[in-house]
Amino acid sequence: MPVSNAVQGAVPRHVAIVMDGNGRWANKRFMPRFFGHEQGMETLLRVIDTFADRGVEYLTVFAFSSENWKRPGEEVSGLMNLVLIGVSKYLRKLAAEGVRIRIVGDRCGVSDKLRAAWDEAERLTARNTRINLSVAFNYGGRWDVVQACRRAVADGLQPEQIDEQALARRMALAFAPDPDLFIRTGGEMRVSNFLLWQTAYAELYFSDCLWPDFGATEIDAALAAYARRDRRFGGVRHPEPVPQGA
Ligand code: IPE
Ligand code: IPE
Ligand code: MG
Repeated sequence: MPVSNAVQGAVPRHVAIVMDGNGRWANKRFMPRFFGHEQGMETLLRVIDTFADRGVEYLTVFAFSSENWKRPGEEVSGLMNLVLIGVSKYLRKLAAEGVRIRIVGDRCGVSDKLRAAWDEAERLTARNTRINLSVAFNYGGRWDVVQACRRAVADGLQPEQIDEQALARRMALAFAPDPDLFIRTGGEMRVSNFLLWQTAYAELYFSDCLWPDFGATEIDAALAAYARRDRRFGGVRHPEPVPQGA
């Protein structure tokens, strides 16, 4: 039976982040939104190392949601280009630092060039073990559940063979334990269709910090808050307080 953090050890194995607030960060500086996205990418590059140093094994970040296609065309193509720039600029450095990269999300609907860049990132880092970075791109929690169901059907499963494990094995993050800690920056307190299935028992942490400003101080605050949580998973508090006089 899962037990509380005090017993499990205080560091989350898997942290999931909604990296929100790039646009507002840029607006505050009278700059275009794209400037915020560029800074946001630099922030991501910085924080991977900090999370790895703190002992986090899996880091999953929300980079582009299945709903972000609703944004102006210019912003969408800017974000696509930013990924290409990021891969060409930073892939070798990340590979050398032991980061294993995976892209999770619907690969349909993005350009061949982008798909090729992702393939290269995954291939070049496939043997790395320091930290597992999953970039959720063109990802939606509902899409993930639907694609897992489709795969179960395609695999020929009968209705009675479909259980939680059968779907979990077919979800985009099947290689990782469920996130222990879910962080959203930027002050909004919503999930925005991120990991709906996988965060059933994640601890939620919301920060007002806009993503480009996120760094070691905010990470340590989030990890400290996590360490104080009592995770019960529907069970009872652990260890049970000893009654007075016992
Ligand atoms: C998050 O920042 C990055 C993406 C969604 C790609 P936003 O672009 O949502 O920034 P805000 O929320 O408008 O400030
Ligand atoms: C969630 O942020 C998606 C990413 C961070 C990639 P949004 O800015 O798109 O979410 P909403 O629109 O505030 O819910
Ligand atoms: Mg936003």
